Amino acid sequence: MKKFKRYLVTSALPYANGPVHIGHLAGVYIPSDIYTRYLRMKGEDVISVCGSDEHGVPITLKAKREGVHPQEIVNKYHEIIKNSFEKFGISYDIYSRTSNEIHYKTASDFFKKIYDKKGFIEKISEQYFDPEENQFLADRYITGICPHCEYEKAYGDQCEKCGTTLNAIELINPKSAISGAKPILKKTKHWYLPLNKYQTFLEKWILEEHKEWKQNVYTQCKSWLDKGLQERAVSRDLDWGVPLPIDNSSGKVLYVWFDAPIGYISATKEITPEWEKYWKNDDTKLVHFIGKDNIVFHCIMFPAMLKAEGSFILPDNVPANAFLNLEGGKISTSQNRAVWLHEYLEDFKDQQDVLRYVLTANAPETKDHNFTWEKFQTMNNSELVAILGNFVNRTLVLTKKYYNRYVPEANYIEIDKKIIDDIKLIQISIGKNIEEYKFRQALKDLMQLARTGNKYLAESEPWKLKKTNPERVKTILNVSLQITVAISIFSEPFLPFTAKKLRNLLNFKTTIEEFDWNFETLPAGHKINNPKHLFCKVTDDEIEKQIDKLQLRIKKL
Ligand code: MF3
Ligand code: ZN
Repeated sequence: MKKFKRYLVTSALPYANGPVHIGHLAGVYIPSDIYTRYLRMKGEDVISVCGSDEHGVPITLKAKREGVHPQEIVNKYHEIIKNSFEKFGISYDIYSRTSNEIHYKTASDFFKKIYDKKGFIEKISEQYFDPEENQFLADRYITGICPHCEYEKAYGDQCEKCGTTLNAIELINPKSAISGAKPILKKTKHWYLPLNKYQTFLEKWILEEHKEWKQNVYTQCKSWLDKGLQERAVSRDLDWGVPLPIDNSSGKVLYVWFDAPIGYISATKEITPEWEKYWKNDDTKLVHFIGKDNIVFHCIMFPAMLKAEGSFILPDNVPANAFLNLEGGKISTSQNRAVWLHEYLEDFKDQQDVLRYVLTANAPETKDHNFTWEKFQTMNNSELVAILGNFVNRTLVLTKKYYNRYVPEANYIEIDKKIIDDIKLIQISIGKNIEEYKFRQALKDLMQLARTGNKYLAESEPWKLKKTNPERVKTILNVSLQITVAISIFSEPFLPFTAKKLRNLLNFKTTIEEFDWNFETLPAGHKINNPKHLFCKVTDDEIEKQIDKLQLRIKKL
């Protein structure tokens, strides 16, 4: 395996046409945060970037419907998204936005460089035009039947059912998404990236050199490559976006999927003048966290752009997740059928980690998964409260009761040594699973530690030995406290709020700067703080409210 010197982690830039929901979190933002937090704890040089994707047709359509300027829409949602990520503990080094000046410049320069190298094909062709609205219908401005799978609501740039990227002209029975009118064809000039020229390169790079990519990602790439790549237009006739930086092209902007991934670069530039170190050095490991509908753009289109530009590295991995459903149905921003992060944060104050836990444990890593409020309640009550919280609480309470909160001396025997060894094995396993993007399994490993602790306490029964063998009880509590310290360290990537609370309860290395991914034992004689519960039960009432809220919204439609 290649040894990397630094990491650059990107998370798909959310469209600023709505808030972030649990599907986004489970698929992209929680996994990337676990990964980044883990790397930081290991002392790796890592930068994690994200930001709002503020261009594209979904935004202009929404603006049109609400009768406002697109800038108003993106300002509103950018703030909501940024704040909710922060409150939720998503630890980006920057949460930027693509309407920033630096991004306009970066994206324009990128285009110019390829243009100057004659990397684009200029072509006049006939494109759909809405005669009622008097405008060209790019991408999502047009819907129709997918020529590949016959899905009826395919968009002009992509069919969301079968994932195929499309040219609007391929749609059967096309309709304008603004007026519903039947579009007419009209001539216009555009710039195309000849993906076909990168076919051989991409085949070798993905199919031969990245066999380790997740199976869903690899097979999707293979199927596109097998079909043969075609040229893709990277400009659009729209008035919202990064203006095309060449003469005689007024009224045209960069295609949103051309400018958005460049947003990762612009965001890095904002963080550090040394951004090139992260983007242009082979010893940087670049990882894109995305949802499955983004695979073609991050594995084919963006790499081809980077290659065409010529001075950038390519991603080492693109761990794309499948989708999360909600109460058995699709999550949908446009239909308001979702659990919105900013609303969750209000309804469940200080319970960020519960959602982080449930969404990690149910992450759609290999196939679509389903979120239900009932599952949310059960996982909180019977796992976080009953397993993790219970073990920690019993340990802290007994330490207070028997030793006035001082860590007792230990005299480890075989079974204790075995536990300490287990802690180290679990740590290795968590690390390995995170590095392989298997976050569900890594979280299971963490819970295994708490289960081990509960089993150890249940089997050694210190409360029974207290009178007959007080020396042994000291050791048992010492070992339980060591497990608790381990939990406080290893839970940091997954449950950062809990990890912090726990470190405070242990009165041990309470700031993240004092901590790293090493397992350090709590010394005998150290005094811990007064015990407090880490988690509380979620009541039937609370989840009924959530279920009603969702029902009500769906009915309103
Ligand atoms: N906004 C896109 C989406 O939500 C993702 C953009 S990712 C980037 O599907 F690479 F383009 F930034
Ligand atoms: Zn289709």
